Amino acid sequence: MTAATRSKTLDRVLVLEMVRVTEAAAVAASTLTGRGDEKAADAAAVEAMRAALNELYMDGTVVIGEGERDEAPMLFIGEKVGSAIGKGPKIDIALDPLEGTTICATAGPNSLAVLAIAEEGGLLNAPDVYMDKIACGPGYPEGIIDLDKSPTENVRALAAAKGVEPKDIIACVLDRPRHQKLIAELRALGCGIMLIGDGDVAGVIATTNPDTTIDIYMGAGGAPEGVLAAAALRCVGGQFKGRLLFRNDDERARAAKWGVTDLDKQYDLTELARGDCIFAATGVTDGSLLAGVKRKGKIMTTESVVMRASSGTVRWVKGEHRI
Ligand code: FBP
Repeated sequence: MTAATRSKTLDRVLVLEMVRVTEAAAVAASTLTGRGDEKAADAAAVEAMRAALNELYMDGTVVIGEGERDEAPMLFIGEKVGSAIGKGPKIDIALDPLEGTTICATAGPNSLAVLAIAEEGGLLNAPDVYMDKIACGPGYPEGIIDLDKSPTENVRALAAAKGVEPKDIIACVLDRPRHQKLIAELRALGCGIMLIGDGDVAGVIATTNPDTTIDIYMGAGGAPEGVLAAAALRCVGGQFKGRLLFRNDDERARAAKWGVTDLDKQYDLTELARGDCIFAATGVTDGSLLAGVKRKGKIMTTESVVMRASSGTVRWVKGEHRI
């Protein structure tokens, strides 16, 4: 990377700093894993993530957070974080201190502490509405997946590019009543369907990892989680399309408030996470992406991944934290 390129990218020191932030949130949430209390686990993760973010030399702004100021006491959208507000590098942050609160509360698979950062203006300020999503791993022709095509057309296109039959494709879908039609269509094609209870950030990223055997992610989940997953795919490769879904005028008004003007737009990866970006996640519970936090005597172990779009570097980080 030349000096000129480097000046246009995020400070690489921030890469490892991001792991500290997700580690702190994951460790805090893990003390409440399986305790049946989603709110307490989320609150612990939020508090720890906020404290860790405030130690970083940056002028950070939460653009995707725990909600709007009146509904979230901490890490609300628009909150300034970092130790150098007004003087440090301006960084936009999308975060989910505990992605999969129910999973954590019930000790299920794939809950994560997760965040993505980009230069100011680099992340879509997605309101907390649903997003229709479709994703596949790297190595396919650009544009092979498209929300304007039917699930059948998308699966057929992917199967043809992979050189297999549609029945050989495995799709990951959130197990929700709203996906009944989608699931029926995929079943009619003979596809394998991995139904997940929660946690579609991990579900989308799973398409990029051949070990998971998941070829495609489909269905509607949270829009904030869509931006986070898109940031990860910007770094690791793969394709993702997202379209905001609005259930009422209030949701449309919230989107407009955050600068979303074209409400029907199908967003591509680079429109969700532009320029250089860094994605970091630490496992809270064991999952397809990361092992969860474990306590062994006076040591907590963590497993994290941190990746950067401009270099494509992916780092797997194991941590031992003395209590
Ligand atoms: P939380 O961490 O907020 O509980 O989100 C979990 C999750 O499963 C996300 O991964 C997903 O995008 C969203 O909920 C789906 O929303 P819903 O549960 O309303 O279908």
